[in-house]
Amino acid sequence: MVNDIKIVAVIGAGFLGKQIASQTAFYDYTLRIYDVQTEMLEILVKKIKRKKKKKGAVGEVTYHIDLAEAVTDADLIIEAVPERLELKKKIFSQIEEAAPPHAIIATNSSSIPVSRIEEAVKRKDKVMNMHFYHQGIPMVDIMKGTETSDDTFEKGKKFVESIEFTPLVVKKECYGFVFNRLWRACKKEALEIWAGGYADIETVDTAWKIFTGMSFGPFTLMDNIGLDTVYNVEMSYYKESGDPRDKPPQALKDMIDRGELGAKTKKGFYTY
Ligand SMILES: NC(=O)c1ccc[n+]([C@@H]2O[C@H](COP(=O)([O-])OP(=O)(O)OC[C@H]3O[C@@H](n4cnc5c(N)ncnc54)[C@H](O)[C@@H]3O)[C@@H](O)[C@H]2O)c1
Repeated sequence: MVNDIKIVAVIGAGFLGKQIASQTAFYDYTLRIYDVQTEMLEILVKKIKRKKKKKGAVGEVTYHIDLAEAVTDADLIIEAVPERLELKKKIFSQIEEAAPPHAIIATNSSSIPVSRIEEAVKRKDKVMNMHFYHQGIPMVDIMKGTETSDDTFEKGKKFVESIEFTPLVVKKECYGFVFNRLWRACKKEALEIWAGGYADIETVDTAWKIFTGMSFGPFTLMDNIGLDTVYNVEMSYYKESGDPRDKPPQALKDMIDRGELGAKTKKGFYTY
């Protein structure tokens, strides 16, 4: 545990929020969970409590149907609501109203730098990006806003280490953080090879597997992430740069329009 952080609140318990809460629960933190979809919270908390007990970790786990109640005594609040700037700003400002002045507010956004959210709060020295990866990949990009203090950043870094994930320090604001940028370069080239008809998806995946020793290649990974998500992320890079070379291929959009979204629809680049 990080000395100054004892109570962690997770705001938004969807795909990523659930994973962040589950990982945090393995350690001796008190955990508060809030989501607007209240019906699943009870089951989620029961599941997390069972995991915590099995691991022998202490600290209560509670769910809340009121945001203010969830953050009122929190030391660290991790926001994981959908990727919409205005929503994130609204949530940050609600947190600001109810959380103690010392609390750190972190966003799990996959693409929005906290500098674009921070205007919603006064405590600009206590905000940061804390970008967790899906499926428990044990690393977290951490990035400052325009006024984030070294103390806040250090506490955030220590928190990530305390839950046995590796912090990836982003030294200055950068769209895509650290690993997402690397993955993006690989994904973009893979899509161009496929859409341009230069090689089959199997060839690309095989090359990647041989080179890296991994058991899957970029097309399998894209199928697992969901092709709609892949497309939206590529579009956000394109909107950010305005460079036509960053626009995802039309063939990917055509797949999405046909409802071929990857593993979740049993058809994407591969058939499941
Ligand atoms: N999906 C990924 O692989 C991934 C990876 C890293 C980061 N992220 C980021 O994590 C965040 C959440 O993504 P996700 O995939 O978990 O989305 P999701 O849709 O699965 O979950 C979002 C949750 O937020 C809840 N929510 C909506 N409005 C709310 C509100 N006003 N207050 C509280 N809760 C609210 C929803 O009910 C839902 O449970 C996004 O910023 C996303 O960019 C996602």
